[in-house]
This record gives sequence, structure tokens and C-alpha cells, in this order.
Amino acid sequence: MCGIVAYIGHREAYPVILKGLKRLEYRGYDSAGVALLNDGLKVFKKKGMVADLEESLIGENLHAHSGIGHTRWATHGEPSDRNAHPHQSSNGKLAMIHNGIIENYTQLKNELQKKGYQFKSDTDTEVLLNFIEDIQKNNQCGLEEAVRIALKRVVGAYVIVLIDQDHPDTLIAARKGSPLVIGVGKGEHFLASDASPIIEYTKEVVYVNDYELAILKPDELILKNLGNEKITPFIQKLDLELAAIEKGGYDHFMLKEIFEQPDTIFDCLRGRLDIHKGTITMAGVQNHMEKLMHANRIIIVACGTSWHAGLIAEYVFEELCRVPVEVEYASEFRYRNPVIRQGDVIIAISQSGETADTIVAIEKAREQGAFIFGVVNVVGSSIARISDAGAYTHAGPEIGVASTKAFTAQLAVLTMIALKIAKEKKTISEERYLQLLNEMHEIPEKLREILPLNEQIRALAEKHKDAKDALYLGRGYNFPVALEGALKLKEISYIHAEGYAAAEMKHGPIALVDEQLPVVFVATRDSYHEKIISNIQEIKARKGKIIAVISEGDEVIPMMAPDIMRVPNADELVAPMLSVIPLQLFAYHIGVAKGYNVDKPRNLAKSVTVE
Ligand code: G6P
Repeated sequence: MCGIVAYIGHREAYPVILKGLKRLEYRGYDSAGVALLNDGLKVFKKKGMVADLEESLIGENLHAHSGIGHTRWATHGEPSDRNAHPHQSSNGKLAMIHNGIIENYTQLKNELQKKGYQFKSDTDTEVLLNFIEDIQKNNQCGLEEAVRIALKRVVGAYVIVLIDQDHPDTLIAARKGSPLVIGVGKGEHFLASDASPIIEYTKEVVYVNDYELAILKPDELILKNLGNEKITPFIQKLDLELAAIEKGGYDHFMLKEIFEQPDTIFDCLRGRLDIHKGTITMAGVQNHMEKLMHANRIIIVACGTSWHAGLIAEYVFEELCRVPVEVEYASEFRYRNPVIRQGDVIIAISQSGETADTIVAIEKAREQGAFIFGVVNVVGSSIARISDAGAYTHAGPEIGVASTKAFTAQLAVLTMIALKIAKEKKTISEERYLQLLNEMHEIPEKLREILPLNEQIRALAEKHKDAKDALYLGRGYNFPVALEGALKLKEISYIHAEGYAAAEMKHGPIALVDEQLPVVFVATRDSYHEKIISNIQEIKARKGKIIAVISEGDEVIPMMAPDIMRVPNADELVAPMLSVIPLQLFAYHIGVAKGYNVDKPRNLAKSVTVE
């Protein structure tokens, strides 16, 4: 969702901004633009890709040492050149980029229209910008003061960055609810939605907090709150290498990230899980063990793929820790009137750590006394910072919009948390605990064994790529894996796919089954195995095209299903980390075979920073 890049300093601003916007493409967008200060303010914007913008600017004089750039994911107004950012204020002196939604923009727009303001776009951004310009005019004040006054009236979420023709040596930015990182260089400053546009220039960053204003000059950074009081910037060192956000020889980020999983799970376990000592070291859990082991209830809030990880965690926590668990879409949880009591623990799961609904769900639960534990991938992200405690997934940057390696890392972290609590609560036997530790330890190696299936899965994808619909079925721990498999297919290949609990299929989806319908079973060997074999028979009897993810050594299912993907045997509790991999590859290859942009599927955004 909207990407923001800005630069002020000694370099040429345009190449820095353009490269930064390309690095943020993964967030999902539909138009792009830049504003540069070069002998006056120049604004260029274009519907489509950053490359389209780049091409349209060939031959232009783009020389500038300060500028702002944006990739827009449409909210107010269709994707078009006109609605793309940056927007320019009525007097032409200010330009602004914005990520978020101004909820009271209609009211502000009416007020401005009565004063004679006219609008060139349909966006809430242009309204806010003219509102700022109007305050400047009426109060005879500088831009910083006008921004501060305006933001006190604004309802909604935003990151804004402004550039002012009359003050070319200053950028002004502010944040509430959407992410913003400042890169601190020598005689230069960078601004971006995340650190990826910044890391090749500097590793020193400042994460801007809600209700903070940043005033940036080449060699000065001032942070203030909306009450105009100065705040000392907290400069952190980024632990991120450039290579981690580049494709490294793979055709797509998604494939790279699928293939990284043996390493990401290894990294996620490293330093935490010790099979020799029989220990799991997680400071975030250990330091809050009392709260976690005496939780009355665990409520997991998340969105998308992270929600699927939550569903699996529900099974794991209830089984191991004997605590009731509920899993909620953050977007539903935040708006209904949930019963939350002291003693409830919220586990918020998020790859980006910036998902707007999850952030608000956390805030709502905290107001009512819940303890918040974050399971987050992006270090320093909003959710990581607002949680009472947490554990990072350490999967590294995930660029492909469809989540893959973050999902398996979430499962690894959640399972370790459950094991650690269960051990402390003594709801697990020593033998089972050690057995599961060992099972976890073996996951990276088993993941490595699955990846050579890639070629076979490519062929399978070729065979099924023209399907109009698909059904994914699983039971127990593999039921959420079926949901995740179906989600991956629709995200990447635009084939309509439904995930279902295999037994529940008789109550509806079975009506869809005919000779054309691929039915993907996640049927690794577990305590439901006999049951799912019966479900496979039911589909076979109705001539559905069966595809099955099965365990090594299973000779029964291959007799019923022509299309098989085998994964190594594993305990059912950890099996989802393996059984999901063929489904990720299957979706990937179908998307590629259909010629789609698998890293940036249409309409989707990586980081959903609006509700
Ligand atoms: C978007 C992404 C998904 C992701 C979901 C939740 O929809 O495209 O891949 O699962 O947001 O994001 P989070 O960053 O909170 O895990």
C-alpha cells in the first residue's frame, strides 16, 4: 500500500527517489509520482508502474537536491495521473505525498470549497494539502506551524511529507498510524515507508512515532510532538543487508522467498531452540511467563496469511497449554464489542507489523486490560513497538506480496512459544516436549528435502493452470493449511479457490465437484488420516480431479489420486510448516504459467496500512 520516499541532501534526489520507489513496489500500487525542487517546484506523476513514470521523464531536467516520491494504492478516486501523488496546493508552492486516509475530508473539502478552493483530483490528500495552505494564509504562519494546526483537526491515519518551494532546504513530515522511517546520513536525510529504500545509503534510522512531526534539513533533524515540544530522536542501527532485499538470481521474489525457508526457519530457531539442553530461550516469553502461563484465555488477532498462522496456533496452544484460544480477524475484532478481561492475553501476528486493523485491535484490547504479545517479522515496526512483549520471526524482508516464508516462521515462533509455556505449566510431558523440540529442530532439513519437488510441481501447475475454480481440503492442523493454499492460489493466479475443512465439504462445496474441478487435499499422515482418505473417496466417487500433498511412504492415497506431492514425515503438530510448501509452489507456478506478475498481484498490497 502507498509507498513514500523523500530525500534532502548533497546527492541528486531523483535517482535516489526513483530507486526507492522501485524498492517499495512490493507494497502494491497503481500509480507513481515525484516532486522535485529545482528552480521552482516540478511535479510529475503517472498512472501505472514506476517504470512508466521513469520513461515519461526521459529528457526532462530532473536536477534537484530535494524531492518527494510516492507510489499510490487508490482509496479516494480511481487510479489515474490526476489522482496520483504528489499533489500540489492551490498556490502551486507546496507539494505533498500521503499514505493513509483522512476520514473527515468531506467536511474539510466543503469548508475549503466555500472559500473558493477548487480541486484537481478526487483525493483526500489534496484536501488536506489545501487545508494546510489555507491555514498558512489565514494565520500568516510558516509551513511547520500550519501542518501542526491542520493535523489537530484531522481524523484518520496518515504519513505526510511536504516540500515547499519557498524553503528548498527543508522537508516536513508527520505520522499517525502509517509507517515512516528516517535515514540519517552525513549531510543528508532520507524518508521512507520502510527501510528498504534507505539501507544502501545509511544504516542509521529513526522510526517516527504517531503524532510526531519531523523537520528535515540536509544536516539537521528535528522531531517534535504536535504540541511543538522537541523530542530527542532515537537513532537505531539497522541490521539489514542490501542483498536481503534483492532477487539474488531468482526470477521472482516469491520463488526466492519460498526457497529461503530452510534458512529462515533455521534462523528463527537459532539461539532459541537447544535440543541438547532441552531448552527454548525466548526473552519475550520468559520475562512475562507469569502473565502467559496464567492467561485465562488467548485471543489471536491477525489478518490474511497471518490469520491462518493464528488458526494453526489455536490448535497448538490448546493441545499443549490447555488454554482456551480464540482467533479473530483484526478487522472484525476492532469494531465489535468483544468481551476482554484482565488476564486475557492477545497475540497479534503480523509480518509487516504495520497492518492498520491489527494495530487498532491491539489498542482496543489494551484499553480493556489485555496483555499484548506481538509475533512480528519487521524489526522496529509499529506492532513490535506497541506490544507489551513479543518475539520476532526473523524471516528477513519479505518482498513478494503473497506471504510465504513469513508464514512458516510465524508457525515456528508460535510453536516454540506454546512449547515454552506448556513446559512451565507442566501441561506437556517431558517426553513429548523433547520429542517436539526434536521435530522442530529437524524442520529446516526437511524443508530442504521438499524444494527439489519444484520441477514436478511446475508440471502439475501446467496441467491445472486453466482451472476456473479449485477446492482445498484439510483436517486438523492441516485445515488452516488448506485455507492458506487456497489463498495463495487466488492471490497469485486469480483462480477462484476455496479452502474448507474436509469433513465440512459435505455441507456445501461438494455440490461444486465435477470432472473439471481440481480438489487439493492436504493429507499428510496424522491422527485424521483414515478420515481424510474417506473424504478423498467421496471426491473420487464424484470424479473430481484429486491433487494431494501426502507423506513419504504413503502408498494408499497414490492409488486414488493421480497428482501427488510428497513431503517428509513429521509430527502432525509441526507438519503445516512442511505441507504448505508444495501449495506455495503450486500457486507460484500457475501464476507464472498464466503470465501474471506473481510478486505484485493486481489489487493487492503487501502492507495494508488503511483499514
Ligand atoms: C496483506 C498481504 C498478506 C498478509 C496480510 C496481513 O493482505 O498481502 O500477505 O498476510 O496483509 O499482513 P501482516 O503484515 O499483518 O501479516
